[in-house]
Amino acid sequence: MLCESREKTGRRRTGSMAQNDNHTASRPALNAVPRHVAIIMDGNGRWAKGRGEERLYGHRHGVDAVREVVRTAAEVGIEYLTVYAFSTENWGRPEAEVDGIMALIANAILAELDTLTGAGIRMRFIGDTGSLPENLRASIRTAENTAIPKERLRMTLNVAVNYSARWELAEAARQIGESVCRGVLSPEEITPELISDHLTTRGMPDPELLIRTSGEQRLSNFLLWQLSYTELYFTDTLWPEFGRDGLLAALHEYEQRERRFGRL
Ligand code: IPE
Ligand code: IPE
Ligand code: MG
Repeated sequence: MLCESREKTGRRRTGSMAQNDNHTASRPALNAVPRHVAIIMDGNGRWAKGRGEERLYGHRHGVDAVREVVRTAAEVGIEYLTVYAFSTENWGRPEAEVDGIMALIANAILAELDTLTGAGIRMRFIGDTGSLPENLRASIRTAENTAIPKERLRMTLNVAVNYSARWELAEAARQIGESVCRGVLSPEEITPELISDHLTTRGMPDPELLIRTSGEQRLSNFLLWQLSYTELYFTDTLWPEFGRDGLLAALHEYEQRERRFGRL
């Protein structure tokens, strides 16, 4: 049938991760789940302001929302979840907010590490992590050095910290240029696949679904290459309130999308 020849949605939920799920009774009914979901977690500041609180109060509750969304993503069988935690542009915020966010991320990584590892979820970090504060770099090292055996690996959580897509693409171009200069690569060998292999997401499928909360409808320098054919989902919900229901609503909407990739 014509419809079946289209790559309409993601993989059917018959993979081993779905079968290993211990929450069968309460598992949400989804016909198709994307392998990779990317999220621009936005609206912490407005959420806090709406409660008469400081912006950092919103960021703290934002961490709680991440925990719930990560758990739900693993439960439904998503293999890669990439969350935008801090952009290169976010350095332009007041110093106290930047310092507060850095400390929150560093603490959350260590606080969640055992639980995530026990659940078969590994953390990876994408972005210019070399210029982050030392305590955050130390947390990142600890998380990245925590191995999960292949048979227990359930999901990869990519945290984008000090990330910008233009930085990432410039880095890829620089590395490729160096290989050409050294004579180990010829310009004819530069293909879209080669460029993908030089990005921070190398080895992962491109996201099938991008979610942005808080009503903003822009990409804010996130995964510009990888999102070329991604389904976009925008919701007015502010990030601290997104949670399990928010993710499931986005996944149900994704199921209805028809992905044509230029074909009919
Ligand atoms: C997203 O929430 C978190 C970060 C960018 C670190 P915001 O802090 O951007 O919240 P709003 O957009 O000001 O409400
Ligand atoms: C994007 O949110 C970055 C993160 C979610 C980390 P921002 O709130 O910084 O984006 P803009 O400035 O409104 O586009
Ligand atoms: Mg914002």
